[in-house]
Amino acid sequence: MKNDEKYLADTLESSEEHRLAIQLLTEIQNLSIENDLWGAKLTVLNEMVDHHVKEEEGDYFKEVRASFDADKRTKLLEQFIQIRDQLLEEYSNQKGSSKRVA
Ligand SMILES: [Fe+2]
Repeated sequence: MKNDEKYLADTLESSEEHRLAIQLLTEIQNLSIENDLWGAKLTVLNEMVDHHVKEEEGDYFKEVRASFDADKRTKLLEQFIQIRDQLLEEYSNQKGSSKRVA
């Protein structure tokens, strides 16, 4: 597999894992803790995030260090922080509108 095709496949997989994590977080947030599914969903989320973090920190971070110099990595970090802060603010604004279901 060419590198570009591998990067695309890895990016799509990672993006899908992010989407599923957000979906599970939303479902957990909307469930009562007494619902039997609450713990099951939390366990699956924990396993999925653990797998995802190991891939990112084990594979992707090494490739980023090898591919980008310190200045470029600093710029990427600044972009990440800016986007993260925007998303946290959006999430914070939406949090009040969520509803709990049994
Ligand atoms: Fe990630």
